[in-house]
Amino acid sequence: IPTNIYADAKAASRAVAHEIADLIRQKQGEGKPCILGLATGSSPKTVYAELIRMHREEGLSFRNVVSFNLDEYFPMEPDSLQSYWRFMREQLFDHVDIPAGNYHVPDGTLPPDKVAQFAKQYDQQITDAGGLDFQLLGIGGNGHIGFNEPGSLINSHTRLMMLDHSTRAAASVDFGGLPRTPRKAITMGVASILAAKRIVLLAWGERKAPVIASAVEGTVTETNPASYLQTHPNALFVIDEAAASDLT
Ligand code: F6R
Repeated sequence: IPTNIYADAKAASRAVAHEIADLIRQKQGEGKPCILGLATGSSPKTVYAELIRMHREEGLSFRNVVSFNLDEYFPMEPDSLQSYWRFMREQLFDHVDIPAGNYHVPDGTLPPDKVAQFAKQYDQQITDAGGLDFQLLGIGGNGHIGFNEPGSLINSHTRLMMLDHSTRAAASVDFGGLPRTPRKAITMGVASILAAKRIVLLAWGERKAPVIASAVEGTVTETNPASYLQTHPNALFVIDEAAASDLT
């Protein structure tokens, strides 16, 4: 997997934000929507901050952007402090001119028996929109992309996923302890992600170094779902020097 290493997350995020902005403008020029797959978590925050800056200072418009987020905790109310719906509004959508109906985050409020049908529709909506032009990803310390935990298959689609203990432990800081941390999430599947025309994965910090090395240099394996990106013709890892420290 091609890997670009930057001195720090800020410089890396600027490069990624510029790629996204160029794509949005290119699609605007063609009179087409730009279909983005978006991630939450700490890694993309600096990318979203740069996109907001470009909107404010350089007139970058999001009017033609249609977005689909990777995942949402389940169950989860949209106005909860920890919801990914809220995260996206606070980190990006409320600060740019994306039309209100154009962004999608998996619905954490559904009754459990409605989730499978919702998941199927979510994948179908992406397909009907023309497929993802660009998918932004973070990576879990265990190799998860979206919430496709180790064991997820390469042909998996959007579905309800049991979260790994390590994922819940990392999230528990935000939820006020492990007992209050959700056990499940709705996530786009590996196949849903791999169908994107372009994929950029972000990783910052030493904590991500081992999983980055095995995703880039190891075998393609379900024990590190990020390794599936080796099979994609147009994926790029954008990482800082600390996250690159275990690469040979
Ligand atoms: C978030 C998501 C997750 C995160 C991953 C890394 O939508 O899908 O896969 O990208 O857990 O999280 P951070 O960036 O907080 O280290």
